[in-house]
Amino acid sequence: MSAIRPADAAARRRTFAIISHPDAGKTTLTEKLLLLGGAIHLAGEVKAKGERRRARSDWMKIEQERGISVTTSVMTFERDGMTYNLLDTPGHEDFSEDTYRTLTAVDSAVMVVDAARGIEAQTLKLFEVCRLRDIPITTFVNKMDRESRDPFEIMDEVAETLALDVTPLSWPIGMGRNFLGCYDLVNDRLILMKPDGGGELIDVTGLDDPVLADHIPEDRLETLREEAALAREACPPFDEEAYRAGHLTPVFFGSALRNFGVAELLSGIGKNAPAPRAQESDKRDIEPGEEKVTGFVFKVQANMDPKHRDRIAFMRICSGRFSRGMKLNHIRTGKQMAVHNPILFFAETRELADEAWPGDIIGVPNHGTLRVGDTLSETELLRFVGIPNFAPEILRRVRLDDPMKSKHLGRALVSLAEEGVTQVFKRMLGGDWIVGVVGQLQLDVLVTRVEQEYGVKIGLEPAPFETARWVYSSNKADLDKLIGSNNSAMAEDGDGEPVFLARNAWELNYQTEQNPSVQFSATKERA
Ligand code: G4P
Repeated sequence: MSAIRPADAAARRRTFAIISHPDAGKTTLTEKLLLLGGAIHLAGEVKAKGERRRARSDWMKIEQERGISVTTSVMTFERDGMTYNLLDTPGHEDFSEDTYRTLTAVDSAVMVVDAARGIEAQTLKLFEVCRLRDIPITTFVNKMDRESRDPFEIMDEVAETLALDVTPLSWPIGMGRNFLGCYDLVNDRLILMKPDGGGELIDVTGLDDPVLADHIPEDRLETLREEAALAREACPPFDEEAYRAGHLTPVFFGSALRNFGVAELLSGIGKNAPAPRAQESDKRDIEPGEEKVTGFVFKVQANMDPKHRDRIAFMRICSGRFSRGMKLNHIRTGKQMAVHNPILFFAETRELADEAWPGDIIGVPNHGTLRVGDTLSETELLRFVGIPNFAPEILRRVRLDDPMKSKHLGRALVSLAEEGVTQVFKRMLGGDWIVGVVGQLQLDVLVTRVEQEYGVKIGLEPAPFETARWVYSSNKADLDKLIGSNNSAMAEDGDGEPVFLARNAWELNYQTEQNPSVQFSATKERA
């Protein structure tokens, strides 16, 4: 039995994700973080590993054709006595529910911003999901080694676009070819960029220290003094509470490519980012320090081997000390399951996990028992909340080429919906299948997988609906009335729950007004 207490193990864990617009440098930064943590040893490993992974999973042709990784993964590494769990969010333009759900499993996020481009569309969207869940954000302004925008302009943009207070913790000295490094505004240190990457630390007494002139040419030193003084004056001081509440973002400047500013970013996360937090359940908030193990599944991934229907469920441990072979209650089915082969994810390897702690992510191999949103609990029968389905933004009708295969189709769609690939709705009138997604790419994945794994060829046609709402009412008669008078717009989701399919916003409004006792919900908590 381990002598470590769950609360102590949780206190030295940081579970976070990196959000960014494609090309801002998320992969490069991830690689440099893993190098720092000793999890990989050669630059280029992340991408090289990506190539290998693609080669292994060539059943998923989309990944190859588009050169992207559709699935999110988890990477664990250690540094200075802390364990970091970095959850990867897909870095392509397209967007999927996986991306949203990954953010349900982290305690903080790093937002990478390209210094020349500022806040871009995808970053903004991801930021909004973080805000919805009060996830604190640390900002890394990347690519300072290139010609970039004025640092004040970038900070203004972050503050205005995201409605956040912004506090620079470092200040850049020059940019592009003239980028020398940063001044550490918190510890009064000079961090000079070394020619071969990384930073050299020089302690100084403050911005007036004459030692600075030994390292910085006169004109740039003058600019630094002016700008740093202005930044300190214009920005609020760093306030940990405001950061943790999601009202303030600390900002680091750097260059992931040159491995500059990355160590400072990581120690900033270690020092300021929240350790695993209490998680909300239907009974009470579950503290990470509690002795009994609890966790929830935030993602399910089909195994790489198409011949087997094995799946890996990614479970975030919320409390207790998990140990291999442990029996946990699977709350949705009411059955017990023994977790014999839990997997821990490292950059280069996957290992069997003998134990895991709050904030850690383990992979649980299963044959389809575990679904996104499921709770596993050692003793108490409780259910974590807040891992919702999101109302789809794109709806398509499924066209079956061979009508003899309609049963297969149903099985395939429901099964892939359980995995979280798409959402699926069966119309009450006529029985058509409608699939719903938040990002186009999910549709491509669906078509490919239904054909390759279930042998059913399908096409997707426009559906005459714009959005879907789950409908609830404490008054069954009112709900029945809505269903009865809107037969053609009603459907059931994969769990048999009623869903209203709206042709447009006007119709949705109209029905909401006509049925005041019915709640039209844009998210569905998974039961
Ligand atoms: P992403 O995962 O956010 O999509 O971005 P990624 O890290 O792949 O970086 C996108 C491009 O930006 C890459 O160039 C990468 O080398 C470059 N980059 C990342 N960080 C920095 C930085 O700090 N400074 C500079 N100057 N460039 C940076 P690429 O040419 O598209 O790819 P590659 O051929 O270099 O791999």
